[in-house]
Amino acid sequence: MRRLRRTEPLRSLVRETSLEPGDLIYPLFLCPGEGVRRPVGSMPGVFNLSVDEALREAEEAARLGLGGLLLFGLPEEKDEQGSGAWDENGIVQRGLRALKETAAAKKLVLIADVCLCEYTSHGHCGMVVETRDGWTVDNDPSLDLLAQTAASLARAGADVVAPSDMMDGRVAAIRRALDDEGCPNTPILSYASKFASAFYGPFREAADSAPQFGDRKSYQMDGANLREALREIGLDLEEGADMILMKPAMPYLDVIRAARERFGVPIGAYQVSGEYSMLQAAFEKGWLDHDRAILESLLGIRRAGAGFIVTYFAKDAAKLLA
Ligand code: PBG
Repeated sequence: MRRLRRTEPLRSLVRETSLEPGDLIYPLFLCPGEGVRRPVGSMPGVFNLSVDEALREAEEAARLGLGGLLLFGLPEEKDEQGSGAWDENGIVQRGLRALKETAAAKKLVLIADVCLCEYTSHGHCGMVVETRDGWTVDNDPSLDLLAQTAASLARAGADVVAPSDMMDGRVAAIRRALDDEGCPNTPILSYASKFASAFYGPFREAADSAPQFGDRKSYQMDGANLREALREIGLDLEEGADMILMKPAMPYLDVIRAARERFGVPIGAYQVSGEYSMLQAAFEKGWLDHDRAILESLLGIRRAGAGFIVTYFAKDAAKLLA
C-alpha cells in the first residue's frame, strides 16, 4: 500500500475525496446598528455584525470562492410570537436587500435560516402555549408563522430558505406559502435531521436564542435514533424539500452516510458551533494543529457523504485550500 503514498503528487492522484472553497457555506449573525462587530465570547473569530459589516464579509467570502452564506438575525426586540422573524423590515430581510445590491452576492448562494428562536422572548423555535400539563411548543399554529417568515425572506432576496425549527409539516407549509406568494422558484433546504444537541451551546450565545425554560427535546431529534432520522428526511422530501441539511456533523457522520446512500437529493452538513468552539479551544491551548485539524474535520464530513458544509471555518479553510 505504501507505494501510492510515497509522494504528494501520487497521494493527490489517488485521493478519493475533495474539499473545495465552493463546498463551504459561511454563517453570519446580523444585528442592528452600524459599524458593529461584536465578538461572540464562546466562538473566537465569530461576530455579531451590523449589515454594513456583513457586506464586507460577503465581499471576502466571494473573493475566497465560498459557496454561500447562511444568515441568522438578532432582532431589536423579541416577543412571544417572534414577529421579528417575518417583519418585512426585519434584520435579515434588511440584510438580504442590501446584500442583493452587491456584486459579491452574484457569486454566492444566500441562504436564510428560518426559525423563530432568535425572535421569541422564550427562545423556543415555535409558539409556546400553556396546557393542563404545563407549557408545550404548539406545532400547527407555528407553521403559519414559519411559512410567513420563509416567504418574507424569499421576497427580500434569499436564494434558498432553510427551516431549522423541526416542527412537523413545516416544509409543506413553507412550500405552499412560497408558491402562493410569488416565490415558486425558491428552493427549500430543510434541516431534516436535526438532533437535540449539546453542541449548539455556543450558537445560542451568538444568536441570543437559548430557551428561557425547558429544552428542545420535544421537537429536535433524540441523538440515539438513526432510523427516525431517515423517516424525518423522507417526510421532508415528500413535503417538497429540495435539499437536506444534517446537523450536527461530527457526532452524526453515520447518519450523513446513511442519508447519502438512501436519498438522491443534495445533502449538506452543518459543522455546528460546538464543533467549532471545541477545536478553537484546543488551538488556543496549542493541543491541536490549527490548519490540519480544520481540514481533516471538514474532509471527514465530505467523506461521510455531505456535498456541502456549513462551517464557521469556511474562510480559514478556503485560505488553506487556495
Ligand atoms: C435555530 C438554529 C440553531 C442552530 C442553527 N439554527 C440552534 C438551536 O437549534 O438551538 C445551531 C447552529 C450551531 O450550533 O452552530 N433553531
